[in-house]
Amino acid sequence: MKILILTSGGDAPGMNMILATLYKKFGKNLYACRAGFKGLINNDIVPISEFEPMKYAKEAGSCIKCSRCPDFQTTEGFNKGLNNAKCFDAVIVLGGNGSYQGCCELNEKGVRTVFIPATIDNDVLISDYSQGYHTAVKACVSTIENTMPTMDAFDRCCIFEVMGRNCSRIANCVSLNYQCDYVVLKKKDLDYKKMAEIIKNKKELGQGSCILVKERIVKLQTIIRNLQKYNPDIEYRSCTVGYVQRGTNPTFIDLEYARSFAKLAINVLTKTKYSTAIVYKKDDFDIIYRNEEGGMHSLRKKGGQEVVESIIEN
Ligand code: F6P
Repeated sequence: MKILILTSGGDAPGMNMILATLYKKFGKNLYACRAGFKGLINNDIVPISEFEPMKYAKEAGSCIKCSRCPDFQTTEGFNKGLNNAKCFDAVIVLGGNGSYQGCCELNEKGVRTVFIPATIDNDVLISDYSQGYHTAVKACVSTIENTMPTMDAFDRCCIFEVMGRNCSRIANCVSLNYQCDYVVLKKKDLDYKKMAEIIKNKKELGQGSCILVKERIVKLQTIIRNLQKYNPDIEYRSCTVGYVQRGTNPTFIDLEYARSFAKLAINVLTKTKYSTAIVYKKDDFDIIYRNEEGGMHSLRKKGGQEVVESIIEN
């Protein structure tokens, strides 16, 4: 069986562990597109061994490279990619919603596909968990924990911005794991008067304060300018947590998820003929497969618990 794999969109901690686990199983039969769908379009495809996946197994990033590839959405780009994909028995796609879309389109044109949700944002519609989310949250909490002591030392206010694109999950989870003084998940949360009051009270107690803001809502400098109007005596600092969320080495939990996602992909490829998505739903792994009529089904529901357990456990 000749299998192709690609990592698409933003990289996610644990992608390398998925690649290494698949390489361990498929060896020279596993090929990789360099930089996601871009590599698929340009036929930039080599045996994955050239990227030394075992060396990077526990590291963040993607050793086979990522890209955002608008060209794959054009008819010309898609058809080029499709022709190259057809040279393989199956294509495994790691990525977020956009990558899933691309994966489904390949599948609709006759390519056998396996999708694995992998994005720090944890916003993949078909899965409750996507690879890398735990590490991203941990990186945010660590950054805040390691910054606040110095803010406290000066009674300063620090505004932290965390990634998550259009999804508040990371910011929300961070706020549950670090007692922030104020959290902005949406534009309507920007109540400067209320924020300023909280910051002032903290300063009066001889403490710094921590404001958490989800990215893509407002510029941090705008927040500072508005708060300064109320509290001109307070010193403000800002910290964009940003790419540390993606570049931090995967947590043990994310390494565990990565091995499970990969193991399930191996099992569905070797034991079934289905095109599938490996998902995590209601606190357990499941496999969503596409039948001949194009319908999507949960293997857990359709085949009963036993079938899915045997695929998951073996
Ligand atoms: O989708 C993952 C993500 O890290 C988002 O949280 C963020 O908005 C975006 O990617 C950043 O993208 P880029 O790497 O293209 O700057």
